Amino acid sequence: MTEAWGPDDDEPRPHRGPVKVRVPAKINLHLAVGPLRPDGYHELNTVYHAISLFDELTARRGDTLTLTMEGEGTGELELDESNLIIRAARALAARGRVPAYARLHLRKSIPLAGGLAGGSADAAATLIACDLLWGLGLSREELAEVGAQLGSDIPFLLHGGTALGTGHGEAVSPILARPTTWHWVVAIADGGLSTPAVYRELDRLRATDRPAPPVPLGGPDQLMAAMRQRDPEILGAALGNDLQAAALSLRPQLADVLKAGHEAGAIAGIVSGSGPTCVFLAADAAHAQEVAAELTAAKVCRAAVTARGPQPGARVI
Ligand code: C5P
Repeated sequence: MTEAWGPDDDEPRPHRGPVKVRVPAKINLHLAVGPLRPDGYHELNTVYHAISLFDELTARRGDTLTLTMEGEGTGELELDESNLIIRAARALAARGRVPAYARLHLRKSIPLAGGLAGGSADAAATLIACDLLWGLGLSREELAEVGAQLGSDIPFLLHGGTALGTGHGEAVSPILARPTTWHWVVAIADGGLSTPAVYRELDRLRATDRPAPPVPLGGPDQLMAAMRQRDPEILGAALGNDLQAAALSLRPQLADVLKAGHEAGAIAGIVSGSGPTCVFLAADAAHAQEVAAELTAAKVCRAAVTARGPQPGARVI
């Protein structure tokens, strides 16, 4: 068996630890959902965007694999073998042919089952942290291959920024645009929504006599053209999400959140991914603060926080 790290000084070596990794949440600026595939996934054409709502994962050396956590979702999130962090660590250890030994600790801010890919973010952070801790030296592409087997959004969260996602979301290509910072308000809901349930609801709506109206937008191409113009009004008009009708069907109260954001003066608002988080575009940082304050006062969501995008993907800090 080849050693995962060799005697050569240029070869990656195990890290003494701790290794701390910060990872952002994602929103989808545009999410076009195609038909259900035989493998149970839907074909996607999406524009991913990483925003400044972060989880932090710390990996320390250990003689077994353990996971502890603090923050958002503590006591709710299972920390056993079903947790995506543990599954990511085991998949990486198998790929690198090393024992899956680490003490992992998660500091969570991204809400559970919120449509912000928090679970995938944590798995992406685990891949980066354990790769360094175990001295595997895998490339980001190799880590993305391991991640794609576990969650559709993991390759994007390794990557970050703004990127086009195809396949079931796992095939990511960066969007080369002049860097522009966009200002968002994130309305966090009470309780989550199950992603598979939202996709099933979309299929059900599409199979009925009166299917949900398709998103009346030009798709990812129009979205990317809008981004290049660096004008929030133009970007706002191009935002769209095919899963929104399904999320609203399962959680009708989300209509109140979207309405409140509109009344608070947001440029545009959509459900994030499969929801129930809603995100609103603001003109600048001060405007985002105002919209967040009004949304909080409207009492339509658990919390309304400001965020900026794009952000880098999972990175050692
Ligand atoms: O890949 P991820 O774990 O995020 O997917 C969770 C579930 O969401 C899948 O098992 C599937 O039911 C649904 N999904 C889908 N099409 C996609 C992505 C997810 O139907 N492109």
